[in-house]
Amino acid sequence: MPEIWTRNDRSQYERGLTTPDKETTIATTEGSRVDNKLSRGDLELFDRQPQTADVTEELLRSLGASEKSVSARYFYDQRGSELFEAITQLPEYYLTRTEMALFDTLADELRAAIGADCALVEYGSGSSKKIRQLLETVAPLAYVPVDISLSHMQHNARELHRDYPNLHIYPTCADITRRFELPEPVAQLNKVGFFPGSSIGNFSPDQAVEFLSNVARTLGTGSRLIVGVDRKKDSAILEAAYNDSAGVTAEFNLNMMKHLGELLGVDLAPEKFVHRADYDAETGCIRMFLEAVEAHEVEANGARIRFSEGERVHTESSYKYAPEEFAEIARRGGFRQVSHWSDPNDWFSVFLLEVVSD
Ligand code: AVI
Repeated sequence: MPEIWTRNDRSQYERGLTTPDKETTIATTEGSRVDNKLSRGDLELFDRQPQTADVTEELLRSLGASEKSVSARYFYDQRGSELFEAITQLPEYYLTRTEMALFDTLADELRAAIGADCALVEYGSGSSKKIRQLLETVAPLAYVPVDISLSHMQHNARELHRDYPNLHIYPTCADITRRFELPEPVAQLNKVGFFPGSSIGNFSPDQAVEFLSNVARTLGTGSRLIVGVDRKKDSAILEAAYNDSAGVTAEFNLNMMKHLGELLGVDLAPEKFVHRADYDAETGCIRMFLEAVEAHEVEANGARIRFSEGERVHTESSYKYAPEEFAEIARRGGFRQVSHWSDPNDWFSVFLLEVVSD
């Protein structure tokens, strides 16, 4: 198994950033790193984690409000990440397979538009499934997966390092919604951002503009960004994608309540909630909620959290865009549109954008 180095000292791990597993050796000696460089691509971890905010405080505030809303980032504990993987395979969840089929057809155009001597920066890399497609297509010099979940990235980085031994891989642990510095070794390379899966739709339009402005500044003028965007379409197709018949999305949503309870050290009674997802054609947004089926209250850290019957906790927004609407968001975020592609049904868009100002 390859080794992952970190420029930060071992105490980060001891403080709970992660627990290195048996197969991971953390070394900090520059000497070892240089030896490694002679024969293989680098594999080095960069920690850009924000100061950990007080999660308890944030959750008590969110769940104590009259309009309850919790950040969608709390979906992704271990089980939540597995459930999301399962969602991507569902017959009703067309997004992942439509986008992947589209990338297949775009291989030549993307190769021509991007060029190989680049660092590919994937925002919110998660399981890094889609990146293999792009690594084959573009063959970049370096790959920078950026994600808040270190354990996910470590595992995937090791597998990629095994399968692409010459590729330099710099997993970067960071909150993509904030500005962060890219790893020093890619500073001189052309940067290409990659933000697939319509994850941009999980931001509100204004947040998407802010996110893109940060990306533009991080990547620099002239850099390119490939972004996948789900399109507006018939509401029946959209609602089915978020209310699948096997109930996986419901389980994914309900798992969040279990996770929140674990973070707060209490039982929030997930069994007293049901999954709801509906499409608002006016805003172009699927909104997901957990709805309390009966009134109940819970004591957490000295505070009382009350749920009335029928009360909804907002867990996620997923905005859908017409191509011209997204082009406008991109323009406001400091990008110009180089290309836009869609699948034969016009269900999903891929944009190639270029930073015009940073
Ligand atoms: C990660 N994100 C793009 C997914 C979406 O479609 O908004 C998350 C998801 N939520 C329910 N199903 C999938």
